[in-house]
Amino acid sequence: MKVKGEIALVTGAARRVGRMLALALGRMGVHVAVHYAHAHDAAQATVDELQRLGVRAMAFQADLTRPEAAPRLLDDVERHLGTPRILVNSAAVFEPGTVRETTLENWETHMALNLRAPFLLLQAFARKVGAGPGKVVNITDWRALYPGRRYLAYTVSKAGLVTLTQMAALELAPGIQVNALALGAVLPPPGKDAAYLDRLVQRTPGRRAIREEELASALRFLLENDAVTGEVLFLDAGAHLVHG
Ligand SMILES: NC(=O)c1ccc[n+]([C@@H]2O[C@H](COP(=O)([O-])OP(=O)(O)OC[C@H]3O[C@@H](n4cnc5c(N)ncnc54)[C@H](OP(=O)(O)O)[C@@H]3O)[C@@H](O)[C@H]2O)c1
Repeated sequence: MKVKGEIALVTGAARRVGRMLALALGRMGVHVAVHYAHAHDAAQATVDELQRLGVRAMAFQADLTRPEAAPRLLDDVERHLGTPRILVNSAAVFEPGTVRETTLENWETHMALNLRAPFLLLQAFARKVGAGPGKVVNITDWRALYPGRRYLAYTVSKAGLVTLTQMAALELAPGIQVNALALGAVLPPPGKDAAYLDRLVQRTPGRRAIREEELASALRFLLENDAVTGEVLFLDAGAHLVHG
């Protein structure tokens, strides 16, 4: 798909990885709906930066743990910016927990935000985009296909997102391509510093974190190449090869 001039919705785009993805789209000439939940000022800063890149951008607030929020968000974006033909599901929660430790609340929050919200957004998106063209990129994690011990609800939710990606790719072809980007460490978890990230990535074959420009080029590839659908692209410097 020729993406320049299209409209994208990026969830969780105020800060961190979502922000990087939104700015990457802006650099491709895509107009961006910047979704946020709590980070109002950061969302506005992302919008300002996108506008400086010469594209249209607007911030949209939604608590995506609420099922009614997803179709409403798509409606709001359509009303204010136009019909999005690109959907990037990045908003997520990432909390530890083993089988024994995971509480019902921890489980429900991961499923609601990391899996149900992308499903409801994708469903509303498919209705709006119809026969296409359209692109969905679901941000998942290498752990989704190589599970370990510590992030039970997170890993199950991201594995579900991979299956959702594959089933949606099949059903929505040929007009809409649906792919997943399985990330390794890009940034330290909130509250941890760069030294923590450095230690973490020493265990991966690449021995380094994923760079913003690498994230941008992977996103561009998934958006521009119409022959790729139902794919899980590992952008993790090989982390999945040495899991466990
Ligand atoms: N960081 C990494 O190195 C890494 C590694 C592997 C995979 N990933 C994946 O990449 C994506 C982004 O990661 P990240 O580290 O940037 O995540 P993050 O810092 O935890 O941010 C997640 C986003 O989710 C949004 N959010 C939180 N609660 C929400 C709610 N109730 N409704 C709607 N949105 C809500 C937040 O919006 P507000 O800020 O407005 O609250 C935030 O922008 C995630 O899917 C994650 O699994 C990241």
